[in-house]
Amino acid sequence: MNNQFELTNSQLLDIANNLRLKIETGLQEDGTEIKCLPTYIHPNKDGIKGEATVFDLGGTNFRAAIVSVGEEPKIVGLAEKDITEMKTEGFTKEDLYNSQAEIINKLDLKENSPIGYCFSYPATSLTDGDAELITWTKGVNIDGMVGEPVGKTLVEFLNENTPVKFGNIAVVNDTITSLFAGLLNPGYDSYIGLIVGTGTNMATFFPSEYIPKLAGLKGWSGETPVNLESGNFNPPHLTVFDTIVDDNSNNTGFQRFEKAISGMYLGRVFRAAFPLEHLDVDLDAADLSRMMNNPESYKPEYSEVAFQIYERSAKLVAASITGLVLNLHSANPAVKTIQVLAEGSLFWSKVKTGNTSYVELVNACLKELLSELGMGDKTVQISRIDNANLIGAAMAVLS
Ligand code: BGC
Repeated sequence: MNNQFELTNSQLLDIANNLRLKIETGLQEDGTEIKCLPTYIHPNKDGIKGEATVFDLGGTNFRAAIVSVGEEPKIVGLAEKDITEMKTEGFTKEDLYNSQAEIINKLDLKENSPIGYCFSYPATSLTDGDAELITWTKGVNIDGMVGEPVGKTLVEFLNENTPVKFGNIAVVNDTITSLFAGLLNPGYDSYIGLIVGTGTNMATFFPSEYIPKLAGLKGWSGETPVNLESGNFNPPHLTVFDTIVDDNSNNTGFQRFEKAISGMYLGRVFRAAFPLEHLDVDLDAADLSRMMNNPESYKPEYSEVAFQIYERSAKLVAASITGLVLNLHSANPAVKTIQVLAEGSLFWSKVKTGNTSYVELVNACLKELLSELGMGDKTVQISRIDNANLIGAAMAVLS
């Protein structure tokens, strides 16, 4: 029974290798633990010009914006709202569309505008740009949407409930929008999109020949954006506390990696580690930050365990990047420089304990793991771009 949050490098390498194998399996067939969902868009990073209406449905917020892409991408208008209401029981598809329409109607809408929809849930991409929801995650469970095309039904609703008619729509995962936005920094051999916020996940490009399950698909070839859905990874070396969090969730057995890493769950992991204390049921990642940043106001063991959970999250992310670098290497050993475009409030957070930041913890661990694997010649650059999801969604529909 493992009750230690600390992970040795050899355990982290087990995790990296396990993920790498499961990514290979996911590229071979559908319905596996790591879904590896291809997106049928070749992003055009140079020559894209134009304006799109962009929607961004995350785990916490819904945002809508007008984004223009040209020499420099520009966010022309932006409206947003906290959408945690969608996690309440009985919240319907119509409630969601009404909430979305209310925000979208705040924009200066144009007739026939194309829509880039950054949709942060697992969905199967269709060749017409739309995507079908596979399952909800992050505590959302709205009836009647699984298996439906996400874009088509929303556009039909908006065409009735906004003053304009919209044009075509591209629905893409938030890791794919980050991946696309990352292309604005040219010159890397390979690219990864990473989210560590309310949830977690990664995406990358694989050559179509490296994706055996695409073999039957006519008319598609070349670099293929793949949404891994790595949050559903069930890694070795989790703790009993992770099992408690999983047992008490609304999707037991799924998203095990996400439940050990992402902002939505870190407070729950902490509570599971202190079962005899009467901790607030709403204790969340922000409370853990407070414990690390104001240790004088908390029991010493609280600040200590909060940091262990935070550090473990960063190391698990480093292990997962390492696993994916191994896949990129086997797809093309010549790949040397890799950019990870990272998004998410947890990823870009800082803490007073050890005067460090999440990204520094990830970088330090990643370096050690790659060098232990003899992959020290790979350079992984973790970068940030403001509004990556909005820009990437516009790139998706304008490509
Ligand atoms: C979803 C992914 C998403 C990630 C980050 C996960 O819960 O399954 O599709 O990319 O959260 O938002």
